Amino acid sequence: MTSVVLGVSAGIAVYKSCELLRLFTESGHDVRVVPTRDALRFVGEPTWAALSGNPVTTEVWQSVHEVPHVRIGQSADLVVVAPATADVLARAAHGMADDLLTNTLLTARCPVVFAPAMHTEMWEHPATRANVATLRERGAIVIEPAVGRLTGADTGPGRLPDPAEIFEVCRRVLAGGREDLAGRHVVVSAGGTREAIDPVRFIGNRSSGLQGYALARTAVARGAEVTLVAANVTLPDPAGAKVVRVESARQLRDAVLAAAEHADAVVMAAAVADFRPVRQSDTKIKKSSAEPDPIHLVKNPDILAELGEIRRARRETYVVGDGPYEAPGRGAGNGAGAPGEAAPGGPCPRVIVGFAAETDDVLANGRAKLRRKGCDLLVVNQVGENLAFGTPDNAAVVLTAEGDSVDIPRGPKEDLADVVWDLVAQRLA
Ligand code: CTP
Repeated sequence: MTSVVLGVSAGIAVYKSCELLRLFTESGHDVRVVPTRDALRFVGEPTWAALSGNPVTTEVWQSVHEVPHVRIGQSADLVVVAPATADVLARAAHGMADDLLTNTLLTARCPVVFAPAMHTEMWEHPATRANVATLRERGAIVIEPAVGRLTGADTGPGRLPDPAEIFEVCRRVLAGGREDLAGRHVVVSAGGTREAIDPVRFIGNRSSGLQGYALARTAVARGAEVTLVAANVTLPDPAGAKVVRVESARQLRDAVLAAAEHADAVVMAAAVADFRPVRQSDTKIKKSSAEPDPIHLVKNPDILAELGEIRRARRETYVVGDGPYEAPGRGAGNGAGAPGEAAPGGPCPRVIVGFAAETDDVLANGRAKLRRKGCDLLVVNQVGENLAFGTPDNAAVVLTAEGDSVDIPRGPKEDLADVVWDLVAQRLA
């Protein structure tokens, strides 16, 4: 049985950690809750003791014969601090040992995950930024807080991510997750766009966003900085990803292209509407007229093809020496680019991945699409009744620009995501 220490510090989000605790205990982990003194103002000791089945104390002065300030940290397989306040991050970064939680953090030799929650001003303060950087340098995983409503009326970054999302990060860490995307910035699009007909109706599609969210979650777990451009998805934000919400194909395009400028890889998992109504009515269309007006459509931009085109154009206009341009500071190899010089228009992603939903002639259509859109990898899956949309499982074939293919058997969308990141990591290496 794995031994998990759940550190809780004094933030209003403490109540969510009761749910996190349950997720751990129900999946068979032995959890020792170590609150700070003030955390008990929000949720009391009996709740933690009853939910964990273990004694709860904040102090090093109780059960001294068991040397708790050393033993709890030493015997843990994972320490997760959720919520982690600005104060606890500061004390951990400075190696303080003024309560049982900070003693535990100093003695733990296992992975440590912090899930910060605080007001935006505190999160953005240079002191907190420096403390987070210090903790990350030392190998701790500090999950980016979610963006949304905070205590009171204000909103912004600082919310504790959904307990299920924190649990997922921890589960992966316990499973011995790789950090092969550390230092990389990846952009993932997810969900399905909506093209407005009038203020009430739209043309949409069946994409749930599950595959894109699985890609974002797994990339965070592998150490990447993740921008997730989400079109009409109702799933909880993956812990640690920066989520940009959009509705239409044109909004998705703007968000993806903006984030792609500074990305190492872009994965287009979103189902993008190919067409939109020429006209959008400002008022609700009434059924008063006998015959409905036809809805005329116009083509939307093809974002994936545009990304491929931008990259091709930049490489062509900037060939120096033996190889194509690669952005400075991104491990440019084979004589690419003049040192320190930026490419015209700024950097662009080195790896571009598309998804293709096909109902028939899956592989032939996939190969043609990969060439047409100029991407490096195309994840082709067959869609239809009960296939792919809205289900937790997926199966696919990944086609590569070199003409190879990798079969991914039916399994959780997380597994498919991991294979995609394996292939992306290989190309970035
Ligand atoms: N895509 C895009 N912009 C569009 C349409 C699709 O970026 N306007 C991206 C999708 O995100 C996906 C890939 O292109 O990664 C393939 O999408 P798909 O719908 O399968 O292809 P289409 O371009 O729509 O081609 P077709 O209609 O011929 O199947």
